Amino acid sequence: MKKWISLVTIIALIALTGCQSASGEEEKTFTLAHNQPTDHPVHQSLERFAELVEEKSDGAMCIKIYPNGELGSEREVIEGTQTGAVDFSKVSGSALESFEPAYSVFSLPYLFESQESFKRVMNNEDVTDDIYMESADKGFRGLTYYDAGVRNVYTKSRMIETSEDMSGLKTRVQPSQTSVQMIEAMGGTPTPMSYGEVYTALQSGVIDAAENNATALTNSNHGEVAKNYFYTEHAIVPDMLIANENIMESLSDSERQIIEEAAEESTSYHEDLWNETVNEAKATAKEEMNVEFYEVDKQSFIDAVQPLHEEFQNDPDTSDIYNKIKEAE
Ligand code: GCU
Repeated sequence: MKKWISLVTIIALIALTGCQSASGEEEKTFTLAHNQPTDHPVHQSLERFAELVEEKSDGAMCIKIYPNGELGSEREVIEGTQTGAVDFSKVSGSALESFEPAYSVFSLPYLFESQESFKRVMNNEDVTDDIYMESADKGFRGLTYYDAGVRNVYTKSRMIETSEDMSGLKTRVQPSQTSVQMIEAMGGTPTPMSYGEVYTALQSGVIDAAENNATALTNSNHGEVAKNYFYTEHAIVPDMLIANENIMESLSDSERQIIEEAAEESTSYHEDLWNETVNEAKATAKEEMNVEFYEVDKQSFIDAVQPLHEEFQNDPDTSDIYNKIKEAE
């Protein structure tokens, strides 16, 4: 309830303080929510998106960004985007699984063979258009993706070499059924929770491990409590920019085109920024936070999750998209 009161208050404030269009005419101000801190590359790419929208519309459309989970967890902002309490949000592809099954494929471990094949698929509109519009009847649509790198397992104290070493390891996963099944298949004990709770859960021992890209160690400070990072390279999950469907429908064709172009350009902008930041994050974690980085027997992890691939291939709800991605790779 508290969250909804604060959402309503914020939106009312925006109505009073929105940005000014060049012509002095009433401009459209939209909200965009996400859960990363402002020094995170995804935040910077979203700022680029907002700048582009404002520039291309001569100030007639303006986007106000709420970072840091200020408007709630990913689950809450997806719900907000469905109802229109939030206009846009940036969430992980995994978080969308419980709202639109088409996204479940992104949490499938070892789906993409490499980062290059991930990009080839994500830049192929034949594949992404189907996924992005699949949720239109659920109140939102996908606009674009942002590279969120390769996810790896990190622990407070357990050393890992093969998937057998995951046995019983309490590992935080995103709230996604496929992510839960992934850790189970590896032999660990999955604990789904929202990102904002992970630091404290690691610190207090509610979980022993988590899995994420290396910016979780630095930008979200997990490296202060988890000192071992293992290159399991088990997933490449895109971050997604989604929009409230009614907002998109209510825009004129040229306004919609501006939003779509700005989204696409912000994705390209994000590319270099991401690679730079993730490399810096690894160096900072190593040198300033004493996090150790380890190679593992990756094949043992690939073998452990093979039954999940079979499930995706055989399930009529997922086989089409699974095969389409495999062809596009
Ligand atoms: C990534 C992703 C976030 C997500 C997080 C998580 O960092 O960019 O959007 O919340 O993973 O593991 O929950």
